[in-house]
Amino acid sequence: MQAPLRHLIDIKDLSVSEIGALLSRADGILARPGDYADACHRKKLATLFYEPSTRTRLSFEAAMLELGGAVLGFSSQDSSSASKGESVADTIRVVSGYADVIAMRHPKEGAPIVAARHANVPVINAGDGGHNHPTQTLTDLLTIQQSFGRLSKLTVGLCGDLKFGRTVHSLISAMVRYPDVRFVLISPPELKCPDYVMAQIQRSGVAWEESRQMEEVMDQLDILYMTRVQRERFFNEADYVRLKDSFILDVPKLARAKPEMIVMHPLPRVNEIQAKVDENPHARYFEQAVFGKYVRMALILFLLGLEKEGEAA
Ligand code: CP
Repeated sequence: MQAPLRHLIDIKDLSVSEIGALLSRADGILARPGDYADACHRKKLATLFYEPSTRTRLSFEAAMLELGGAVLGFSSQDSSSASKGESVADTIRVVSGYADVIAMRHPKEGAPIVAARHANVPVINAGDGGHNHPTQTLTDLLTIQQSFGRLSKLTVGLCGDLKFGRTVHSLISAMVRYPDVRFVLISPPELKCPDYVMAQIQRSGVAWEESRQMEEVMDQLDILYMTRVQRERFFNEADYVRLKDSFILDVPKLARAKPEMIVMHPLPRVNEIQAKVDENPHARYFEQAVFGKYVRMALILFLLGLEKEGEAA
C-alpha cells in the first residue's frame, strides 16, 4: 500500500519526533554527503517561486542536485503563467505531472494550502507572505541543535519585525513544543507578534516577556534571533522608513552576552546587523544559511519516502 501523501505547509505538520529524525538525518548527510549522492536519482524538484529568494530557492535546488535529482521551476511570478492570470490551483495540477516534489513561495498567506489541496505530489511551503516559513525553521533548529546539542532549556530573544517576520512565527510554533524554552520578544509596538502567534505562546504555557531594548536583555539570552524589517509587507513607505532602523546590532552591544550566546538571522540582512559583527564569535548566521541545504536534503528524502541511496522507506 502506498504511504499517504505528506506536505509541509506549517511546522506543526511535523511531530517533535519527526523533527528530531530530520535533524539527525541532516547531521548524517553533513558527515557523509557522498552516501546520499544518488538517493534521488531520476527524481525532480519543482521550485515555484512567486516572490524573490536567494537562500531558500538555491538551497532547495542545491539539495536536490546533491541528492542526484534534477530541478525545474521559475523564480518570479513574471516568468510564469501567473502573469497571464493562471491560478495557483491550475499551476499545481500541471506541475504535479512534471515533478515529484514541489517547493513553493507565494506572497499570499495560505497559498500553499491551496496548492497542497490540488497536488498529487508533496508540497513544501517555502514561505507564504508574512505567515510561515517552516523550512527556515528546520534550518534554525539544526543551527541551534548544532550549537547547543539541545532544543530545550534555552532563552531565545527574537528581535525586529515580529509582525511580518514569517520565520519568527514558524520558529515560535516549533519551539513552544520543547521544555524550558523562554522567549524575549524585542520589537517596537507597531511590529509586535500577531495575536495568533501570541495566543500560541500563551496556550503552550512557555515563559515570555517583552522588551524594547536588546541591550537590557542581552545577558539573559542563549540565542539572539535578529530579523529584517520586512519592507515588502508595509502598506506605506513612511512607516517602513520610520521603523526600519529600530534595532541595529553592533559589536559593543554584544559585550554583555554570555560567551556561548549565538546570533542568528534568517537573512537577507539590511542594516540590522553591522558587518563587523560577522567576524564576532557569537555570529552564526552564515553557517545557519549553509545548514539550510542539509536540512532540505533531509526533508526531500523524508517527503519522497526515501532512505539513503534511493531505498524506499
Ligand atoms: N531566509 C530566507 O528565506 O532567505 P531568502 O528570502 O533569500 O530565501
